[in-house]
Amino acid sequence: MSEIIAIANQKGGVGKTTTAVNLAASLAAAEKRVLLVDADPQANATIGLGFSRSDYEYNIYHVMIGRKALSEVILNTELKTLDLVPSNIGLVGIEKAFYDDTTKGKELILKKKLAEVKSNYDYIIIDSPPALGPITVNALSAAHSVIIPIQCEFYALEGLAQLLNTVKLIKKTINPKLRIKGFLPTMYSPQNNLSKQVLLDLQQHFKSKLFEDKNDACIVIPRNIKLAESPSFGKPIILYDIKSKGSVAYQHLAQSILATA
Ligand SMILES: Nc1ncnc2c1ncn2[C@@H]1O[C@H](COP(=O)(O)OP(=O)(O)OP(=O)(O)O)[C@@H](O)[C@H]1O
Ligand SMILES: [Mg+2]
Repeated sequence: MSEIIAIANQKGGVGKTTTAVNLAASLAAAEKRVLLVDADPQANATIGLGFSRSDYEYNIYHVMIGRKALSEVILNTELKTLDLVPSNIGLVGIEKAFYDDTTKGKELILKKKLAEVKSNYDYIIIDSPPALGPITVNALSAAHSVIIPIQCEFYALEGLAQLLNTVKLIKKTINPKLRIKGFLPTMYSPQNNLSKQVLLDLQQHFKSKLFEDKNDACIVIPRNIKLAESPSFGKPIILYDIKSKGSVAYQHLAQSILATA
């Protein structure tokens, strides 16, 4: 059975896309069949995997409004078992399309579309935008679980209560099976006291929801220049610098997810 994992946090720039792309690629490198769904109008995951506007005509927006089947927009990537549903700035139109359409069940559109292809994949990873709007609600409604990246910086935990409330509400109303798969500390700098403090706070409040490697050490994504560079080469870190600290950390995350499958 396939597992659908949403990557969400309404805070901007916390490492959602970096996590979605590199977790998806690391799972694919472990020979799992993976579909990465770019559900952000910024299309950073699409661009980060090396696609430009001229490479594809239709995207997730056309699927969500019913103009195309999901299978018609899927792109193959450089990794054999990693496929991508691309996005485009036009996805901002979804809010208006949803507002104009008065039929019920709009929260479940993505779930219905994914149902058409999910038997082809072991994992479906959804990258969501920095907002708690209709797209993120669709992602959380479609997912079995959610990974919440937390940037190890000042204000890291601000807004978290709102996100957790949204998860709770969706669980209560639309998607009773939704669970928090884990919090993922990102951009961690060991030489920075603030970074260390955020990690300590997370360990204190959410110990059971942090990912662990096979030696039971907490998985933390380090601040790593290679992770920041790889999207500009259109590659996941595993194809850009497999031995970098960032690549190793995302491989550990994938292993931890495979170990608990
Ligand atoms: N571990 C890391 N080390 C260094 N740079 C990183 C790391 N993770 C992410 N970055 C960089 O930080 C920026 C924000 O990361 P990313 O795009 O993944 O965040 P996001 O949460 O998806 O942002 P948005 O909310 O805009 O969608 C990017 O430039 C990315 O390359
Ligand atoms: Mg993003």
